[in-house]
Amino acid sequence: MRTIAVMNQKGGCGKTTTVVNLAGCLASEGHRVLVIDIDPQAHATLGLGLDPEQLEENLYEVLAEDGAPSARLDEVTVPADENLDVAPSGVILSALEQKLAAEGAKGRTERLAKALELLPKPYDFVLIDCPPNVGILTFNALRAAQEVIIPLETSYYAMHGVGKLLETIGLLEDRVGHQLSIRILPTLFDGRTRFAKRALAEIRETYKDLVFDTVIRQNVRLREAAQRGLPISKLDRRCYGFVDYMSLALELLFDRIQHAEEEEEMPQPKAAGAKGVVFTYKSTSAGEVQLAGDFNDWVANKDVETRRGPNGTWEMIVRLGPGVYQYRYKVDGDWMPDPSNPRSVEGPAGGINSVIIIS
Ligand SMILES: Nc1ncnc2c1ncn2[C@@H]1O[C@H](COP(=O)(O)OP(=O)(O)O)[C@@H](O)[C@H]1O
Ligand SMILES: [Mg+2]
Repeated sequence: MRTIAVMNQKGGCGKTTTVVNLAGCLASEGHRVLVIDIDPQAHATLGLGLDPEQLEENLYEVLAEDGAPSARLDEVTVPADENLDVAPSGVILSALEQKLAAEGAKGRTERLAKALELLPKPYDFVLIDCPPNVGILTFNALRAAQEVIIPLETSYYAMHGVGKLLETIGLLEDRVGHQLSIRILPTLFDGRTRFAKRALAEIRETYKDLVFDTVIRQNVRLREAAQRGLPISKLDRRCYGFVDYMSLALELLFDRIQHAEEEEEMPQPKAAGAKGVVFTYKSTSAGEVQLAGDFNDWVANKDVETRRGPNGTWEMIVRLGPGVYQYRYKVDGDWMPDPSNPRSVEGPAGGINSVIIIS
């Protein structure tokens, strides 16, 4: 079980959007995901289509009392979608922050970690949406997590908070008492502005390897999805918002499994503008190479234009809009993932599919 807290003491930088949509993408790839909404504003609960006022129980019942909580985590958890559950929030959580602070209660920052240990069946991923401050609730999230994602808005103003953020990162590990793997996610990127480009360059320069390769672009569909209480994976799988969050999901999955091997030497399918995307397979021995993917309903060579190049090169061209696609080659009757593409996932029907992201 990978437990990831999404935190930044600044509001509006994309924490909740990241939790909801990353959860949706991981779940749609077949991973079991639990979203823990520990922000009293309950935006993640709402963003997953649940009305916090209609729910009888929420995280308060789990966290309010030490030793004998009035509910276990799995008892307040509600399903939001296939593979996707939510431990909901509610306004009463803001009272909890005050209650715990006033009581000076022992173990008050460990309650979420303990509640997760008691889950009868572990999830693949637990994503925790933190409030925009570093109070007791956020510390509960950090105690429970091994990984932290810090969304950082790629605006001119965001860079002013950099010093403070670095300080917080340093303090966190000391106070949490265990190592946290901290990564920074550039968000709300608007590639048309020079400010945004400069901010992104500065973020990469300052935080180097801590920064994800994935950048979350501004995309109005993400706002619409939030308003409709859906993760973007349920609303539109062709928009930038989906492409970017699926790319983040894949980056999280691959870092853990293996780093992309010698990426420079491994040509990935190339985008060829209006002509479509060129998939290249090299084999001097193959008699027939075909291509199938979710873009052509897994029907070999449907809507695929094939060219034979020199030295056993097969080029297959498909028209593709922005999106994340899975595909395989059929080489002399045998299905196989693309040997030149390090990005792959377990397909829904078993076996390994290659993954291409067209942005
Ligand atoms: N990539 C994006 N493109 C467009 N709107 C976004 C994007 N990320 C976040 N938003 C919007 O910005 C606002 C703040 O985002 P949110 O995720 O709620 O931030 P936080 O949880 O850090 O306060 C919300 O209205 C959300 O829909
Ligand atoms: Mg939020």
